[in-house]
Amino acid sequence: MIRVGIIGCGYWGPNLIRNFMQIGRSNVVRVADLDQDRLNHMKTLYPSIEVTTNHEEIIDDASIDAVAIATPVHTHHKLAKQALTADKHVFVEKPITSTSEQARELIDLAGQNGSKLMVGHTFLFTAAVQKMKAIIESGELGDIYYISSQRLNLGLFQPDINVIWDLAPHDISIITYLLGRQPHTITAVGTPHVNDTIEDVAQMTMQFPGSLLAFLSVSWLDPDKVRRMTVVGSKKMMVYDDVQPTEKIRLYDKGVEGPKHYDSFAEFHYSYKYGDIVIPKIEGKEPINVELNHFLDAIENDTQPICNGLRGLEVVKILEASQQSLQNGNVPVQLEK
Ligand SMILES: NC(=O)c1ccc[n+]([C@@H]2O[C@H](COP(=O)([O-])OP(=O)(O)OC[C@H]3O[C@@H](n4cnc5c(N)ncnc54)[C@H](O)[C@@H]3O)[C@@H](O)[C@H]2O)c1
Repeated sequence: MIRVGIIGCGYWGPNLIRNFMQIGRSNVVRVADLDQDRLNHMKTLYPSIEVTTNHEEIIDDASIDAVAIATPVHTHHKLAKQALTADKHVFVEKPITSTSEQARELIDLAGQNGSKLMVGHTFLFTAAVQKMKAIIESGELGDIYYISSQRLNLGLFQPDINVIWDLAPHDISIITYLLGRQPHTITAVGTPHVNDTIEDVAQMTMQFPGSLLAFLSVSWLDPDKVRRMTVVGSKKMMVYDDVQPTEKIRLYDKGVEGPKHYDSFAEFHYSYKYGDIVIPKIEGKEPINVELNHFLDAIENDTQPICNGLRGLEVVKILEASQQSLQNGNVPVQLEK
């Protein structure tokens, strides 16, 4: 049985508690939060769990093997560092830290003491994203031309981070996972409306080697909840709509080709293909359950999670570059290798 301590039981933390409790090979023994009301509520739901307003009771508990952190982003580094220093395995919510320097420090610490460090990029554990990866890797879409994603809704406004830091980690982690590579240049545009300084709507462009592009739109100011990603390939196109309860992926046998040879514009004819639309079957397991099982597997089998500290760092580097672009008149920012 892997003994787990959870720091943070606001909006997201209870999902981690519930799943760790249900999995069967892990047990949540302590939960910390600054808010006594949240702790009282957790105690009502899970009477066996010890609750505390002091997270150091989790760090100092030698019987705890792993710590999961679901607190605001600016606290991740300090809490994860304390847990890693105390030789715990750490699961930290996305994004891993507020800066790439902090993420590097956590990666080094985990490496030094052999602890597992995993970031909660939950969408990688959805059946839909796994299916999309399999489809892309099978070559069915052909060469990928571009990916476009929209993650829009009304709220939830965050007091300390802008909409890119809040929502884009999901799309950045999905897109880089699907493509298996990192962008070299980031451009971002965004503006604050409701709060004077925190951007609530933004667009990002990620440029990858070759001519591959990804466009990301994120907003806390949209009337509709939109979770949509389109992958356009040379042979087929794929749409992932996460708001759909069951038919989340559609594969379109659509495409367009120019003529191989032509001598005048009059001879230039596009050929459009309008083929079948296929809805692949996907299994509907709770992604957090799959995600936390993956973390426990990594601990038990001494393997690296697919979203380890390094993957978390790559996401933070993209977020930092987008921040730099926003602050410098939307200039393209090159990512260091
Ligand atoms: N994976 C996902 O899909 C997903 C979804 C939502 C949120 N998140 C992530 O989860 C994290 C938390 O987000 P949230 O929406 O639950 O925030 P929240 O504000 O609702 O909850 C955070 C909780 O942490 C507590 N806290 C803060 N500092 C603490 C400390 N030092 N010790 C103990 N408790 C402390 C607060 O009292 C609060 O109850 C963020 O990193 C966020 O990005 C992930």
